[in-house]
Amino acid sequence: MSPETLAPVSTLVTPPTPSSSTEFDQYVMSTYGRYPMTLERGSGCRVWDTEGRAYLDFVAGIATCTLGHAHPTLIDAVTQQIQKLHHVSNLYYTQEQGALAKWLVEHSCADRAFFCNSGAEANEGAIKLARKYAHTVLGIEHPVIITAHASFHGRTLATITATGQPKYQKNFDPLMPGFHYVPYNDIAALEEAIAILDGNERQVAAIMMEALQGEGGVRPGDRDYFQRIRKICDEKGILLILDEVQVGMGRTGHYWGYENLGIEPDIFTSAKGLGGGIPIGAMLCKAFCDIFQPGDHASTFGGNPFATGVALKVCQTLEQENILANVRARGEQLQNGLRAIAQKYPALISEVRGWGLIIGLVLNPQSELTSSDVVKARSLRGFCWFLLGQRWFALCHR
Ligand SMILES: Cc1ncc(COP(=O)(O)O)c(C=O)c1O
Repeated sequence: MSPETLAPVSTLVTPPTPSSSTEFDQYVMSTYGRYPMTLERGSGCRVWDTEGRAYLDFVAGIATCTLGHAHPTLIDAVTQQIQKLHHVSNLYYTQEQGALAKWLVEHSCADRAFFCNSGAEANEGAIKLARKYAHTVLGIEHPVIITAHASFHGRTLATITATGQPKYQKNFDPLMPGFHYVPYNDIAALEEAIAILDGNERQVAAIMMEALQGEGGVRPGDRDYFQRIRKICDEKGILLILDEVQVGMGRTGHYWGYENLGIEPDIFTSAKGLGGGIPIGAMLCKAFCDIFQPGDHASTFGGNPFATGVALKVCQTLEQENILANVRARGEQLQNGLRAIAQKYPALISEVRGWGLIIGLVLNPQSELTSSDVVKARSLRGFCWFLLGQRWFALCHR
């Protein structure tokens, strides 16, 4: 489809709110500030609203649609699997769950996988695993997990506590004990925090970070910082957990975000792009910290043959269609184009940053423009972008 078919700005100066949205708001809790458009169809990297207008989907679902919308392999995988077997209890073996775990282990640094349904749930699993490891292996009575300011790890009580952003925690206290925050990419601050926390009795059980902070403003991790963290963890027996929910599954041009940093985590989590838009989460770990026993952790829907069968096809398609190379090439092309725009308008855009196809634009703090203004204007012109704060917003395209 040619770009000419995208919604022309002239027809969209005052976007109509579809009447169905009034009814929607009557029945659905208002946990999201929604844009005034109702999406009803997608194909490839485009979505269409109920008025028939096309949009280029730079949000990629919400960093979920690994193969784009309505990819024939995805349709085929969903159709085949629902006809064969969609759900049975984890009390039984299924081929699909085993095959997905094998693919993930063979394409990462991990040795084992646990499956759940979302990113927050995967991170909950990682937090539980780290706490059990602290109590039973390290002999730590009051384990602390260090996370970063501006991080994002999900919306459950434990993961909003892990998330180093007070705006997500406001009014939900009492929060979970056992978390401590440090500035991202600041090794001196991390070393000081560990020294203080472990001053009287050993407390630091794990360090949990994003390889690139997504919601925190598309902030890539420094290679030196993460290599030093890996060393500290090795020296002190601290577990390194990486939250790969946003940056994993090829978004950065590598299967996993940590590949950009030249390190391996002990535990990492995945969700979003893993099922190509079908809900699934995973928590993976190295053999030495695979200490969960039957009964320690579980999920009714986690690892069901429908989600794992489809996710396996998504993973195999990433490999067979050589999508990682395309992510790197398209990412470079997009970043170069955005840098040229930033150079032309330095009063408006101060930075373009990211890896592969997770790219953030930072607005010049001197300008009046906010990210919300830009995202609204872009959606009027037929682009879906998403904002990450007052001054920056992101594009996650395929
Ligand atoms: C880095 C990261 N971790 C965890 C989550 C939470 O994932 P979910 O919404 O699937 O629970 C997100 C969601 O945006 C995320 O970006």
